[in-house]
Amino acid sequence: MRVILLGPPGVGKGTQAQFLMDELKAIQLSTGDLLRAEVRAATELGTKAKEFMDAGKLVPDDVILGMIGRKMQDLGDKAVIFDGFPRTVPQAEGLDKLMESLNMKVDKAIELTVDDEVVVKRLSSRRSCPQCGAVFNLLFAPPKQDDVCDKCGHVGLIQRDDDKEDTIRNRLKVYHDQTAPLSNYYNTQGKLVQVEGDGTIEEVRDRVLAVVK
Ligand code: AP5
Ligand code: MG
Repeated sequence: MRVILLGPPGVGKGTQAQFLMDELKAIQLSTGDLLRAEVRAATELGTKAKEFMDAGKLVPDDVILGMIGRKMQDLGDKAVIFDGFPRTVPQAEGLDKLMESLNMKVDKAIELTVDDEVVVKRLSSRRSCPQCGAVFNLLFAPPKQDDVCDKCGHVGLIQRDDDKEDTIRNRLKVYHDQTAPLSNYYNTQGKLVQVEGDGTIEEVRDRVLAVVK
């Protein structure tokens, strides 16, 4: 099964992708995580992408499609959760073409919805582990021990550079302008399922899993 997770920044795409991976024995392809890995490795792509990411803007479509194209070549028949991709209509069209060339198709696009103010609250309090990537929230999903990763024990959780309030608001604007039209794109294909993203992580998980079961 190939599932796209759509929705604004901070709605919980990464959080819910973890549950879907367990349920579907799938791998997660998060363009945000892939880009942050390029930034950390200081590659040419990462250096170029960082300027866009820090400003809360989208990285150009050709860069994203090139990156995803390379990842998709090695997928075989694995189930995939796309997290944060596609984000524009040209990216969605590019993914459809790529899928066709590999004899695959998108099965569902699950759109998580939530109000903008919930996003600002969640993202201002998000922390993540620089070692294993685990995501926490100081208000809603705190680590068991202050500043220590529950998963790998690393000491020192970090705040993402783009989780400052000004940048969060830019990301929301970009989302409404450029990514929200994808609901219509997948609705027209009969693949869109909207899921309420407000509520506890477990409540949202149960709604999301009900869609794929
Ligand atoms: P990306 O990393 O994809 O960021 P995003 O879409 O803005 O989404 P986030 O990762 O911030 O949020 P999320 O929905 O995953 O929420 P999470 O589960 O962490 O992209 C970053 C940047 O990279 C972009 O701005 C752009 O520059 C670039 N980029 C990436 N992909 C691109 C593309 N395809 N094209 C062009 N550019 C691209 O949850 C958030 C917080 O809330 C956490 O702390 C979590 O613990 C908490 N939480 C989750 N669910 C709940 C709940 N139900 N209740 C309370 N708290 C919750
Ligand atoms: Mg994410």
